[in-house]
Amino acid sequence: MIGNILIIDDEKDMLTLLKRIISEETKHKVTTESDPIKALELFSQRHFDIVITDLKMPKIDGIKLLEEVKKISPDVSVIILTAFATIETAIDAIRKGAYDYITKPFKRELILLTLDKAIKWQEMVIENKALRQELAEKEEFSSLVGSTPIMKGIFERIHQVAPTMGTVLITGPSGTGKELVAVAIHKFSMRRDKKLITINCTAIPEQMLESELFGHIKGAFTGAWQDKKGLVEEACGGTLFLDEIGDLSSHMQTKLLRLLQEGEYKPVGSVTTKKADLRFIAATNHDLKSDIKAGSFREDLYYRLNVIRFELPQLKHRKQDIPILSYHFLKKYNRINQKNIKNISPETMQVLISLEYQGNVRELENIIERGVIFCRKDSLEVKDLQLDTEHSVLFSDFDEEIGKLNFKDAKDKMIQNFHKVYIQSLLAKSGGNISKAAESAGIQRQYLHRLIKESDIRADSFKFEDDDLL
Ligand SMILES: Nc1ncnc2c1ncn2[C@@H]1O[C@H](COP(=O)(O)OP(=O)(O)OP(=O)(O)O)[C@@H](O)[C@H]1O
Ligand SMILES: [Mg+2]
Repeated sequence: MIGNILIIDDEKDMLTLLKRIISEETKHKVTTESDPIKALELFSQRHFDIVITDLKMPKIDGIKLLEEVKKISPDVSVIILTAFATIETAIDAIRKGAYDYITKPFKRELILLTLDKAIKWQEMVIENKALRQELAEKEEFSSLVGSTPIMKGIFERIHQVAPTMGTVLITGPSGTGKELVAVAIHKFSMRRDKKLITINCTAIPEQMLESELFGHIKGAFTGAWQDKKGLVEEACGGTLFLDEIGDLSSHMQTKLLRLLQEGEYKPVGSVTTKKADLRFIAATNHDLKSDIKAGSFREDLYYRLNVIRFELPQLKHRKQDIPILSYHFLKKYNRINQKNIKNISPETMQVLISLEYQGNVRELENIIERGVIFCRKDSLEVKDLQLDTEHSVLFSDFDEEIGKLNFKDAKDKMIQNFHKVYIQSLLAKSGGNISKAAESAGIQRQYLHRLIKESDIRADSFKFEDDDLL
């Protein structure tokens, strides 16, 4: 990396000397300044990676300067130049966050070596920062979002249940976030540093599932050339997430029951049992009770699994979550597609709220992703969503109801609906902040307050607190 270096010393000769050494031997860009006050001004206007400063200067000394530049840019590396007599102050400087110090008179090599180390340190700082940000973004986008009481209740239960060993059964229609709940429970458990192993019971053919789960020994079947560990062993100490458990064959249901009951299993072909230390989470979109009635799911297994139950609601039963989810996905797909769409227009939000969502949150996510891809302005419009006829038919259900009313009632209802959708969309964008929402709508705060009240909306349910994000 080529660094930007600022050198400060009241002795002009020293500045010339240092600039010459660094410019002769490296490609770094060097700026010099003999007045520390002017140097600070410069520092607040431009970006520097490294500051080299003398300790004893009139007006501001090196320590004060160090403190000031760290306030402006905490990651900058500061190297202090000092005469031998003040070495204690130099040590004090290190304590206050200086990168290193060099005593005068110094050798040319020492300056270059220290500078080189500081530049490498800067590179690492920048890299770490990028990694941390990437990680935080990943976390954010794999988080559960929701502001309705029903979702808040689920978040609270996740926190209560996560630290325990209780087996969890998550049910709910497709696309309601069952997998995200499983991930969150693991993330907030004592086992968070161990593995979360997911096994999709439908995706693996029945014959392979047993060996996949429990492993096998050499010669157990044709093709078993050597012993193989199963996922149960791999997840040991951590969490095993059995996804789509409703699709498990009766043979595997029996094996699983044993694992749950005794904490024991046998690799395929083996006669010795092994112990497993696991936390179990299972999920399904089946109605297991009716599967039991139909004889396709073991009742005893059901009761083993159903210790702690999460039932995820369909999206159409918590439409108040649509604005907050929509903005969450807008951010996610802006990032993925390197776009910067700022708004979801009120009409678009109205359409989004009025859809039926057979596919629940996954369907909403897909619609927003498509919208982001096709949108060319900085606001997401209805046409960007490219809804198919299936969606538009559902959308017209909404108009049908209004069509039954007389003109005045229909108009009032339309205005009411418009207010509700518009305000929800404003609040979702402003994170529940009424002043900001009023400002962006260009209306008075008091008027917005009244509309909120009339529309029976709870502004605080749009507040984006930490517990809205799991
Ligand atoms: N509350 C939520 N907040 C943010 N994203 C969500 C939420 N619920 C679901 N999603 C997103 O919707 C998609 C579907 O969620 P998930 O895979 O957890 O659903 P599922 O219930 O396991 O569905 P299926 O039964 O089809 O497997 C994922 O991309 C997920 O990130
Ligand atoms: Mg799933």
